[in-house]
Amino acid sequence: MKANNFTSEDDTHTLLDVSLRPPAFAEFCGQERTIERLRLMVDAAQGRGDVLQHILLSGPPGLGKTTLANIIGATIGTSVKTTSGPMIEKAGDLAGLLTNMERGGVLFIDEIHRLQPAVEEYLYPAMEDFKLDIVIDQGPSARSVRLNLAKFTLVGATTRSGMISAPLRSRFGMTCRLDYYDIPHLQKIVQRSAGLLDVPIDPEGALEIARRSRGTPRIANNLLRWVRDYAQVRSQGAITQAVADQALAMLEIDKDGFDEMDKRLLEAIIHKFNGGPVGVNSLAVAVGEEAGTLEEVHEPYLIMQGYLQRTAQGRIVTPRAYQKIGLPPPVRPGELFN
Ligand SMILES: Nc1ncnc2c1ncn2[C@@H]1O[C@H](COP(=O)(O)OP(=O)(O)O)[C@@H](O)[C@H]1O
Ligand SMILES: [Mg+2]
Repeated sequence: MKANNFTSEDDTHTLLDVSLRPPAFAEFCGQERTIERLRLMVDAAQGRGDVLQHILLSGPPGLGKTTLANIIGATIGTSVKTTSGPMIEKAGDLAGLLTNMERGGVLFIDEIHRLQPAVEEYLYPAMEDFKLDIVIDQGPSARSVRLNLAKFTLVGATTRSGMISAPLRSRFGMTCRLDYYDIPHLQKIVQRSAGLLDVPIDPEGALEIARRSRGTPRIANNLLRWVRDYAQVRSQGAITQAVADQALAMLEIDKDGFDEMDKRLLEAIIHKFNGGPVGVNSLAVAVGEEAGTLEEVHEPYLIMQGYLQRTAQGRIVTPRAYQKIGLPPPVRPGELFN
């Protein structure tokens, strides 16, 4: 299929895992409003010969934050230095990164909500005035030296935008929230990825995978890889709706894309906590998962789909959750007489 005269290279290519990350805005599917804003900002900065403002990307895992940070860098034509909040242990680590930035370069800090407070404070003057105060020596001879930094662009990513402090948030010129993808967009993403992986897939097969991907491109790509393996071993290699359905049933991913943990979560609230309200920590113990993972990964999708609500008292399930588990919704006092 691929025009390539170098057979040996072609062989090695199939051995390596192909990157499914879109390399440019034009290949990034969905999130139209965010993309439009980002493109405009990049165009404007380039038109003025200026450095792009700092950008904060937030949203659940797997929606394209890292991908976008790299696309931004590629569009500006600069390299992206990547690090993450927990990796920067001391202010000195940050100083090392920042003093190495060149004008217009992009520094990508993933999980920026996990920066140490001391490191975060150090970042403020760097973001705002491109200055860094370094303390040399300790004790009575300690003094601080102000360094000028090259004007750079910080791109931060977070799955927990609520945990970003107000002073940090206000230093970003733009905050972009990524939303879950709708099914037609996911279908396109699956088709694009299948093309890159060189697996034959029909539109219905792609649709079936899209429907069961919880609105998340990373999950769509993971499911596609699994369905590809299944198709290769159990069928003729091509992905149709029937093949996708059988393959995903084998993973116990249901028609709505619910996995084992989603179901366990709803069942726990219904059976162990009488439908809620229940605090996230009790829930975490009941299902055997970390509270942070529940909040970041599992709950947002269940909330978006209307199975779960977060209230001041804790989590409660909706009637839809009962239906999902195959139970009649409880009759609330008062409803009996309606
Ligand atoms: N809009 C998109 N179009 C196509 N593929 C995407 C898109 N967004 C994400 N992906 C794919 O999903 C995967 C996860 O994206 P990533 O940027 O790592 O998410 P995040 O950093 O938000 O967790 C990437 O490998 C990429 O291939
Ligand atoms: Mg990421």
